[in-house]
Amino acid sequence: MKKTVLVSGGAGFIGSHVTVELIGAGYDVVVADNFSNCDRTCYEGVKKITGRQDLPLEVMDFCDAAAVKALFGKYKIDAVIHFAAFKAVGESVEKPLMYYKNNLMSFLNVLETAQEKGCNVLFSSSATVYGEPDAVPVTEATPRKPATSPYGNTKTMCEDILRDAVKASNGKLKGILLRYFNPIGAHPSALIGELPRGVPNNLVPFITQTAIGKRECLNIFGNDYPTPDGTCQRDFIDIVDLARAHVYAVTRMIEGKMLEPCEVFNVGTGRPLSVMELVNAFEKVNGVKVPHKFAPRRAGDITAIWADPTKANTQMGWKATRTIEETLKAAWAWECHLAGK
Ligand code: UD1
Repeated sequence: MKKTVLVSGGAGFIGSHVTVELIGAGYDVVVADNFSNCDRTCYEGVKKITGRQDLPLEVMDFCDAAAVKALFGKYKIDAVIHFAAFKAVGESVEKPLMYYKNNLMSFLNVLETAQEKGCNVLFSSSATVYGEPDAVPVTEATPRKPATSPYGNTKTMCEDILRDAVKASNGKLKGILLRYFNPIGAHPSALIGELPRGVPNNLVPFITQTAIGKRECLNIFGNDYPTPDGTCQRDFIDIVDLARAHVYAVTRMIEGKMLEPCEVFNVGTGRPLSVMELVNAFEKVNGVKVPHKFAPRRAGDITAIWADPTKANTQMGWKATRTIEETLKAAWAWECHLAGK
């Protein structure tokens, strides 16, 4: 029988790509979102890509415990992937209580109900939990560092909450923590992608918006870092590769193939790329200019971080496959699609 996966925050950037891959792998998906940080573009795009015009959509807030209970009553859910959370680092520094309330409350509601129903939980964590690492690449055993923002802290706290809940559940609750590095790109169909509201905080949407003329100039924050070219280094992971990692993780949970009741995996390529290298690659592969200048360092930025993805490669059997050229082409195609070009 087909298994059903609930994707909270399923209309967002990562959630929509994950929904496409889950459906492609034969799962039924229930998308739930309160549209607080996205519109219906990606939900509609998912329906087009998958041909699933009947894709269930529940417009709801995961901070509403009664609504979460009702949702789990309405569908027989085998696993839940929890994305529904605020994610802007700077905003979290200004509005910490809003971040703690939203990100913790929604996850607690999901966990309480999932535990009651004996449903598997996949939490979307982040490489932010490693802070400024003492050595790169980072493995899952690399010690976490104190978070540098309330946003980052909600990731660390949710990891701990899931671990504790799994431990206390006597096998009733199983969980996987996926630590994402820097997800970028868009679906090759250019029907779904990243849709930041206002001025983008993240690098790639800023690049694509500058290339298309929506922004005048990209500021490259810092060229005096102790890296080969002076700009920060990251592990940029293609969004479709990242989405596929969720299918592997969910299948592993549902089929009872986990080695521990709460597992953690890095989801990255293992390939460091500097900000400057990324900008150059974007210009080259797409044949467009990205006006840019060097600007002072951005507060809270990490010098260099990339994943050692060996554990996900060997234990889950997942590996990133898309080249940076494919990824940057897809990001540009999406921006052009949005601009109607
Ligand atoms: C941040 C978060 C991370 C989150 C990710 C995706 C932290 C420390 N980081 O990662 O948790 O998962 O966003 O939402 O919490 N840059 C520029 N110019 C720009 C924008 C960015 O030079 O206009 C540079 C940054 O200085 C950085 C790199 O590009 O060196 C990547 O920045 P960004 O895309 O914002 O991601 P992170 O800060 O790595």
